[in-house]
Amino acid sequence: MKMQLKLLPFGIIILFFLLGFNLKKPTPHTGSNSGPLDYSDFKTPEYCGSCHDQFYQQWSQAMMSEAYTHHWDEIEYFKLAVAHSKADPAMEGMHEGCNGCHTPMAFLTGDMPPPRPGEGSRANESVSCEVCHLIQGIDGDTAYNHNFILETGTTKYSSRKGDIESPDHQIVPIDLFSDTRICGTCHNEKNSFGIWVKSTQLEWEEGPYAADHVTCQECHMPDTEMKTAKMGTTYPDTRTHLFNGAHDPGKVRGTIELRIQPDIRETVPGEVVVFTTTLFNQKTGHKFPTGSVEDRIVWLHVEAKDEAGNTFHLPVDKKGFEGEEYTIASDAMAYQDMGVPLGIENFEGVRREDVPIGDRIFRMPYFDPQGRMTIMQWNTASLGVDYRIGPRETKTETFTFTLPYEITPGKVTVTASLYYRLLVKPVAEYLDVPAEEYAALEVNSHSTEITVYP
Ligand code: HEC
Ligand code: HEC
Ligand code: HEC
Ligand code: HEC
Ligand code: HEC
Repeated sequence: MKMQLKLLPFGIIILFFLLGFNLKKPTPHTGSNSGPLDYSDFKTPEYCGSCHDQFYQQWSQAMMSEAYTHHWDEIEYFKLAVAHSKADPAMEGMHEGCNGCHTPMAFLTGDMPPPRPGEGSRANESVSCEVCHLIQGIDGDTAYNHNFILETGTTKYSSRKGDIESPDHQIVPIDLFSDTRICGTCHNEKNSFGIWVKSTQLEWEEGPYAADHVTCQECHMPDTEMKTAKMGTTYPDTRTHLFNGAHDPGKVRGTIELRIQPDIRETVPGEVVVFTTTLFNQKTGHKFPTGSVEDRIVWLHVEAKDEAGNTFHLPVDKKGFEGEEYTIASDAMAYQDMGVPLGIENFEGVRREDVPIGDRIFRMPYFDPQGRMTIMQWNTASLGVDYRIGPRETKTETFTFTLPYEITPGKVTVTASLYYRLLVKPVAEYLDVPAEEYAALEVNSHSTEITVYP
């Protein structure tokens, strides 16, 4: 197969057109749009890094360089996606589309499924320098499902044609590199059910930052004064390659500003105090959480503590909107559809979130064709209520607290804490995902006080 493919003209233009999730029809993935290239058509990141040393070091600390190798990716891909492709004829070939974004070189060379990360193949290069800098266009107007147009060879595309020539390659500047759509090719995803299971760039387009021309690059590749290459010029506005996001606690911390205040300051046991929390999204250019929303949760926990150290958990007040039950922590079970790839008949699922019951959750539930919550984005037939916090949006939540008679008179401190988790804990535990990949992170917290008289 590889031998034949090598005979195809070099520098061929590859159009990925809706290839990623070609599972609407139960026909197998033909591979007609993948496979015509060879890994040797791409330079390694280390090669580029020999001159672009700083960018290489930044990239190698970002998720871009781990998009194929990072544990949760490996687990979801092999235990669920590849297995689901095999277990259900309607899903046949579905797993190939994952590679179009997570390891585009493997997709382009037809190396699917690629060897496991532990085998050290070139699929491990994930979203490498070459993958992005060989992109010269987008197929269509809307960027999604890796619909970039990529051409291999010695011409590298970028937004800048610098002062000096590169000894290694030609440089062609194109506007696409300072456009958010280059990011959207992988950060927007529509599955075979026609559901937008990832829409970071579309969320941005609808939000205030698009109107202000603050691009993804501004926040994720902030510019600074430095060289772009060892032997090159120092530019005042060089684009860093940090790509730090949800996996960088420093980026996530403080994303939401949080305050809490009571309606009265002095009271007695048996009386009611209403606490109001205000949550302002000051930092993200899209919703929070965004991206892999099927996995991610943000939740608000409010607790009162009296002078004797007794604590009382305050459940959020219901607002009464449709689908609200998915935004208040409960002990419901979910994710039963994992039973298909895992080969478990009548799988009862695992707990939906495992956070304190009654806490408010900022999320958007994904539903499988049977209407049960799923973390398998490819098996998502509908989306539920979108209760995430939009860019520059402010949400308020109230907590009605009837002071219990056992509370110790004196000062009572009430603390609101906002937490974030990349992957719901019960799923992570069930699938043996390493603990650091789903640890709860405190986004913010704030406390207020009331005085209770005997
Ligand atoms: C070829 C596909 C592709 C393109 C193009 C692309 N990304 Fe990504 N990006 C990914 C993948 C895949 C991941 C990592 C997913 C994972 O966690 O395994 C990722 C990760 C990230 C992360 C880190 C997220 C986290 O959870 O920490 C940020 C930030 C990011 N990309 C921003 C951008 C920006 C900004 C652009 C445009 C300049 C862009 N990406 C273009 C595929 C792409
Ligand atoms: C032998 C050294 C060398 C290697 C290897 C090399 N480059 Fe370059 N590259 C340069 C120099 C020098 C410039 C021009 C720097 C300047 O403008 O000051 C440059 C410029 C660029 C630019 C345009 C932006 C700019 O700074 O002007 C891009 C994009 C780029 N290189 C990408 C790559 C990629 C991707 C690879 C790996 C396939 C690579 N380069 C390998 C030396 C190299
Ligand atoms: C996810 C896509 C992506 C990856 C991966 C990526 N780049 Fe870039 N790179 C960009 C974009 C987008 C720009 C231009 C940003 C802008 O001008 O707004 C850029 C700019 C550059 C520039 C020019 C910087 C400037 O300010 O002129 C160089 C040089 C470069 N990249 C080299 C590399 C090297 C080397 C690697 C691998 C270590 C790499 N890139 C990986 C997307 C990427
Ligand atoms: C105003 C600044 C800003 C802009 C503009 C912005 N982001 Fe972000 N982004 C953030 C912050 C802060 C976070 C960390 C909090 C979070 O996870 O949402 C983040 C997180 C992310 C993540 C991680 C999400 C996850 O859960 O894995 C991705 C991916 C991402 N951004 C991509 C993009 C893309 C693509 C664009 C452009 C369409 C963009 N961002 C525009 C600030 C920004
Ligand atoms: C259209 C591009 C695209 C396709 C297709 C795609 N992904 Fe992703 N995936 C991303 C991007 C970008 C991110 C990272 C940022 C985010 O969370 O949005 C991501 C994140 C993930 C994560 C979460 C990583 C983490 O660290 O939390 C997993 C797991 C994952 N993808 C698995 C898959 C599997 C399995 C498939 C195929 C069924 C797939 N992806 C298809 C682009 C894609």
